[in-house]
Amino acid sequence: MRVGVLTGGGDCPGLNAVIRAVVRKGEVQHGDTFVGFRDGWKGLTENLTRPLDVERCRGILPRGGTILGTSRTNPYKVEAGVDAVKETLEKNDVDVLVAIGGDDTLGVAYRLSEAGVHVVGVPKTIDNDLSATEVTFGFHTAVQIATDAIDRLHTTAESHDRVFVCEVMGRHAGWIAMYAGMAGGAAEILIPETPFDIDEVAAKIKHRHSKGRFASIVVVAEGAVPKEGTLSVASGKVDAFGHAQLGGIGQVVAGALEERTGYETRATVLGHIQRGGTPTAYDRVLATRFGLRAIGAVHEGAFGTMVALKADVIELVPLGEAVTESKIVGPAFLDEAAVFFG
Ligand code: F6P
Repeated sequence: MRVGVLTGGGDCPGLNAVIRAVVRKGEVQHGDTFVGFRDGWKGLTENLTRPLDVERCRGILPRGGTILGTSRTNPYKVEAGVDAVKETLEKNDVDVLVAIGGDDTLGVAYRLSEAGVHVVGVPKTIDNDLSATEVTFGFHTAVQIATDAIDRLHTTAESHDRVFVCEVMGRHAGWIAMYAGMAGGAAEILIPETPFDIDEVAAKIKHRHSKGRFASIVVVAEGAVPKEGTLSVASGKVDAFGHAQLGGIGQVVAGALEERTGYETRATVLGHIQRGGTPTAYDRVLATRFGLRAIGAVHEGAFGTMVALKADVIELVPLGEAVTESKIVGPAFLDEAAVFFG
């Protein structure tokens, strides 16, 4: 078979491990040939390709990013974009396309599969916000990076008797904030799922310091929102999928806390550091298993599906399921973490 592979959306540690697994099993066990499409759906709309075989995948397992490149191009927003995608697939004799991406990339894959294109999806995102799979690769790496950063902030916070606000990624889900905050012993975690009251947060920090603690780490998810009318936050540019660029809430929260508590407060924005670099062992294994199952799905003719982790087994779910609902943090998890707040 001739298989096309693309990686779309924000990059994520583990993408190369998926590519390697797909190509390895496809070439060695099935005699497949591959073509890589560059820069996500952009490569499909502009016929940007890159040769892909076992030899070209050597050494990429531990490497962050994606050897294929990525973008947030949406072919449904490009003039004649969908026709161009179909033409590119035909030109390159592609029988099946393996699309590795988050909800946006997989949303396009779903629409194309409904239109008759043979697609198998592989979910990725550091945000861990896809409901059809228990975990996405990249998430554990991001959490580990954020936890290491919080550990480092603790020692400087303690030395200077400061409050630190650490802003983490996650878009509109608080998974990275919850896991890194809990693992790092945060004094408060602010997530998008539960709008926060800055006066309450300040009161809890003051209470904590009144008990003899003089350093506090507040973890804030980039998508965290204040309760209506309590704090004003600027909104960013919008991408081809209609998502606003997030970031900046950490600085706002730090300023507001310093004003309300009188304690010296600094903000640290972890940003893309959470997405860069080598994947953890867990993410390498999950990504590899996803890749192996995806090429299996290609040969079963299970088009319009996506691989997903369910109770430690890699299953196939309909692509449509992957893009319907975001997985968000439930209140019970926040309650558990709250035992350590204030
Ligand atoms: O979806 C992954 C993610 O890293 C989000 O956590 C973040 O909001 C966004 O991508 C950043 O995107 P960009 O790299 O385009 O700024």
